[in-house]
Amino acid sequence: MRVDVITLFPEFVDAAARVGVVGRAQDRGLLDVHGWNPRDYATDAYRRVDERPFGGGPGMVMLIEPLRDALRAARAADPRPVRTIFLSPQGTRLTQDKVRELAKEDRLILLCGRYEAVDERLIEHEVDEEISIGDYVLSGGELAAAVLIDAIGRLQDGALNDAASAQQDSFSDGLLDCPHYTRPVTHELGEVPAVLLSGDHAAIAKWRRKQALGRTWQRRPELLARAMLKPEENLFLLEFQKDTKK
Ligand SMILES: C[S@@+](CC[C@H](N)C(=O)[O-])C[C@H]1O[C@@H](n2cnc3c(N)ncnc32)[C@H](O)[C@@H]1O
Repeated sequence: MRVDVITLFPEFVDAAARVGVVGRAQDRGLLDVHGWNPRDYATDAYRRVDERPFGGGPGMVMLIEPLRDALRAARAADPRPVRTIFLSPQGTRLTQDKVRELAKEDRLILLCGRYEAVDERLIEHEVDEEISIGDYVLSGGELAAAVLIDAIGRLQDGALNDAASAQQDSFSDGLLDCPHYTRPVTHELGEVPAVLLSGDHAAIAKWRRKQALGRTWQRRPELLARAMLKPEENLFLLEFQKDTKK
């Protein structure tokens, strides 16, 4: 998968995509992230990429031309069809379902805004979709692009050393993940639940499912309301609810 990022800070996105699982995905040739700086496409002596807004008011607005030329250069760099996403607090909120959908694309272009806004005409004509990473405002789209690249990068086949780990993650089946433990068995902070040491795989699977259901009920009940639970899962949840009332 190739991801082109239009940003005034390509070095930021590049650094974020060099580390951890996403860095490894790039090293393994599963993901290819390229930055494009609209300032390189500015035509005036000051390499201007922003101007004051018509109608007055605070802040600056990103100019159409440098962004459009950077987008055109990024599109021309690879012949495959590409979906152009503008990272914006006004976009559709990012979910794991959306991440899974985008991870299947061969190419994406991520457009990062800065300042007060991007000229609306560029968004109307050059952008396929707007995505927000949450209901808060960042000073630029770079962190949002890095979030998206991380979330889709780790879903590329072969990016994780054990592909099963992504299937267990929170949201992969609509629920939160269960708690996890490692050595030592006994610690001043507590004991590892005995079932996890039992070697009984069926009992361990049941415990994990029950914990995932219980956590989702406690922390994100709206997710549970949307989940299609099997009859035995409803029983696990009832057991969890009884245990927590004791
Ligand atoms: C200071 S913000 C502009 C906010 C804009 N005035 C508004 O209220 O919609 C500058 C840029 O940061 C990025 N950004 C800010 N918050 C974001 C969020 N929650 N998700 C994705 N991108 C965001 C966008 O690219 C945006 O163009």
